[in-house]
Amino acid sequence: MTVLVVGSVNADVTVRAPRLPAPGETVLGDDARVSPGGKGANQAVAAALAGASVAFCGAAGPDSFRAVALSGLTRAGVNLEHLHELNAPTGLALVTVAADGENAITVASGANARLTPLHLPASLDGFTHLLLQNELPLDVNREAARRAYAAGLTVLYNAAPAREVDPALLAHTHHLIVNEHELAALGGKGEDLEKRAWTLLACGPQAVTVTLGARGSLTVTAHAAYRLPAHPVIPVDTTGAGDTFCGVLAAELAQGQPLPAALHAAGIAAALACTRPGAQDAMPSRTEIAAAR
Ligand code: RIB
Repeated sequence: MTVLVVGSVNADVTVRAPRLPAPGETVLGDDARVSPGGKGANQAVAAALAGASVAFCGAAGPDSFRAVALSGLTRAGVNLEHLHELNAPTGLALVTVAADGENAITVASGANARLTPLHLPASLDGFTHLLLQNELPLDVNREAARRAYAAGLTVLYNAAPAREVDPALLAHTHHLIVNEHELAALGGKGEDLEKRAWTLLACGPQAVTVTLGARGSLTVTAHAAYRLPAHPVIPVDTTGAGDTFCGVLAAELAQGQPLPAALHAAGIAAALACTRPGAQDAMPSRTEIAAAR
């Protein structure tokens, strides 16, 4: 049961500041910290730490940020056979973290934006789950989902950061994961959150999860709705919490857990990831998740 993550890999340059700057404002923060990030790499690392066998397909450049960007993937034992070195800068994310743990992120996509469908693995043999996000070009995601769906893999798609809905991609998605902002961008219509998530089931997915931060998560399928409260923590840094949720959800499903148990583990893992600084550096191990259950 192997999870294939097709996604971005970045070096995160993070500065902690008393608050996020308003437009046009400069705020003074602490020393900058450089750590591994990128939604794709973050989710791959979270899944591997949660016990899944994971392979990553993506791209980095030949520059000085490459080593730090790949360090978490290597440490977590993620298979990097499908990682490409392209003639472009390694992806870089500028992250500001406020005292309350909230963040603001600007991404310079670099090599991530140069990935093409030709870089996807020639064969999907041996993979059972595909996990996608929105930090790669749309044609890469679309082709990865189309091929994985046809080959019988379970396709999980985290539509983050928010971008316009792509009907072909949603049609080849089994499980869509969004936050409230991304749900709005996908056009889930109506006042009621549950109804808005239900609307998206008609576009292809068999399950839609809406992550709600400190309010937990909501998941709808054709037959059921699951509302899970958040695991209570005092947040220090929320960077990568959503990625932890997605990676652990994929890992749990790939290891045969039923949906409610997988959602429960993913929620706990995401909360634990908020209690430490950084994205991948903050992610919990399988043992830590089990201990908090
Ligand atoms: O989701 C958090 C991630 O978003 C960061 O690690 C940053 O690299 C951006 O991709």
